[in-house]
Amino acid sequence: MELLELMKKRRSIRKYLPKKVEKEKLDKIMEAGLFAPNPGGGQGTRIIMLDDPALIEKIGIINADCENRNINFTVSKDQPSILDDLSIKSGFYGCQALGIICIQKKRKNEVNQIGAAFVCAENMVLEAYELGVSSCIVGRAEATFAREGMQELLDKWGLDPEYTPIVFVCFGYIDGEYPQIKPRYEGRAIYISDSMASGNQ
Ligand SMILES: Cc1cc2nc3c(=O)[nH]c(=O)nc-3n(C[C@H](O)[C@H](O)[C@H](O)COP(=O)(O)O)c2cc1C
Repeated sequence: MELLELMKKRRSIRKYLPKKVEKEKLDKIMEAGLFAPNPGGGQGTRIIMLDDPALIEKIGIINADCENRNINFTVSKDQPSILDDLSIKSGFYGCQALGIICIQKKRKNEVNQIGAAFVCAENMVLEAYELGVSSCIVGRAEATFAREGMQELLDKWGLDPEYTPIVFVCFGYIDGEYPQIKPRYEGRAIYISDSMASGNQ
């Protein structure tokens, strides 16, 4: 698919089939993340890909519990989120693989380092869509891994203890119809031509 078309059609998917994502596809998705732009060329992000639906479900329930769900806020009508539908138990929506993107703890408040994690997530999401795999970026990663027993999991997986999870990406095959392109709000982009910039117009 042409890249701009792919970016327009990609949507956050919150209902997945109980069907595993092939390892070869997950490898490509991780590779896409590793090739994201990164501040200072430091390649400061670390990616964990968890391919264990039962454990993902357990962590997803903790993740949902880290959100204040008692607010009246609509995220999506066609792909309801944990804020739209309080009966959803897991913040990972039954996804079959979970990307966990990490940055250095001591730099976790630096906007460029946080940005690096999110551009990494975006690369992964776009590669996934190209491969026919649906996805959803999910927050509350630090809060989720601050819960009791969670650091032990990171240790077990071999994450350098100087790193902390900053964002999740759910991956899986969509259960149901793929949603339509979301229309964009007007007036969000400003183009300044050379004549306008210099005030000659
Ligand atoms: C930084 C970031 C954090 C997000 N966190 C969540 C989240 O915690 N839970 C969720 O269901 N969706 C989350 N999303 C997905 C957005 O809700 C989604 O991108 C938005 O509603 C637009 O819908 P679309 O991706 O289908 O175009 C997040 C997206 C971004 C970029």
